[in-house]
Amino acid sequence: MRRTFARALALAATAAVIPLASPAPATAGVVIGGYPVDIAEAPWMVALSSRDRFGGTRAGQFCGGVAIGRETVLTAAHCLGEEVLGAPPRKVRDLRIVAGRGDLRADGGKEIAVRDIWINPRHDAYTNAGDFAVLTLSEPLDAGSVIRPAGAGDAAYKPGTGAVVYGWGDTTGNGDYASSLRASHVRVLSDAVCEEAYPGSADGTYLAGSMLCAGETGGGRDACQGDSGGPLVAQGRLIGLVSWGSGCGRVGSPGVYTRASGVATALGAGR
Ligand code: ARG
Repeated sequence: MRRTFARALALAATAAVIPLASPAPATAGVVIGGYPVDIAEAPWMVALSSRDRFGGTRAGQFCGGVAIGRETVLTAAHCLGEEVLGAPPRKVRDLRIVAGRGDLRADGGKEIAVRDIWINPRHDAYTNAGDFAVLTLSEPLDAGSVIRPAGAGDAAYKPGTGAVVYGWGDTTGNGDYASSLRASHVRVLSDAVCEEAYPGSADGTYLAGSMLCAGETGGGRDACQGDSGGPLVAQGRLIGLVSWGSGCGRVGSPGVYTRASGVATALGAGR
C-alpha cells in the first residue's frame, strides 16, 4: 500500500502510533524548500479537516483544497478515499474546510461544514488518473476568496512557467507537518520530461493532458505528504492540484498535479 500522510495520521489517531516517515531526502515538502506565506495572500487556500479522524492539534488538517467558487472547493479524489479517511467519506461526520486561517493552531478564519461530496468516479488509484473531487460548502466564502482555473491552452501551462504550490504538508520528508501555511516555487515541466520521470510504476503513471508535473532541475522544491488537493498557481490562475510523486523534492522525481483545465472541462460537462 502506498503510504500517505493522511493514512499515517489516521493510524496515529485511531491506533496511537507515531506517523511513519516516507523514505525521502532531507529536503522535501511545502512544502519542501518553501517559505511561510500569509493566508491573506492566498485567500482561496483551504485545509480539509476532520478532528474525529486526525486529531485536533492542527485543527484536524489532512489535505489541502482550493476554492473555485464561493461554495465550491476542489481537492484530490485520493484525499477522500477510504485508505486516507479510514472510513467512507459520508461516515466522516465532521468533515469541514478551514478558510482564512494560516496558522492551524490559532482560531482565525472560518470552519465550514461540507454539504455535498462528489468524487470523480473515473479516479484510478493505481495510475492516479482523474485525481479530483468537489466539495460543496454549507455556507458561502467571501467573494474575494476564489481563484479561477486556467482553461486549456492558457499560457500558464507552458513549460518553464514559474508556479507556486501551497500547503500545510511535510516540510522535510520526515513527517514534520507545518502548522502555518507554506509555499514553494516550482517550474512547470514539459510532458516529455514528466513522462520520462514516470513511465508507469506502483507510484503512478504520468498522463499528459490530464496531469502536469512541476519541480526544479536540481530537486529540493516540491509538495509533499499532507499537501495533496492543494493548489498550484501560476500567473494568478489555478493550474493544478497536488496529487502524487515519488518521494518529495528528489532530483528526477518532480511533483505531479491534476491539471486544472481537465477538471474544469469535466465539471462543465456535468461531471
Ligand atoms: N499523495 C500525497 C498526499 O497525500 C501528496 C504527494 C505529493 N508529492 C510530491 N512529491 N509532490 O498528501
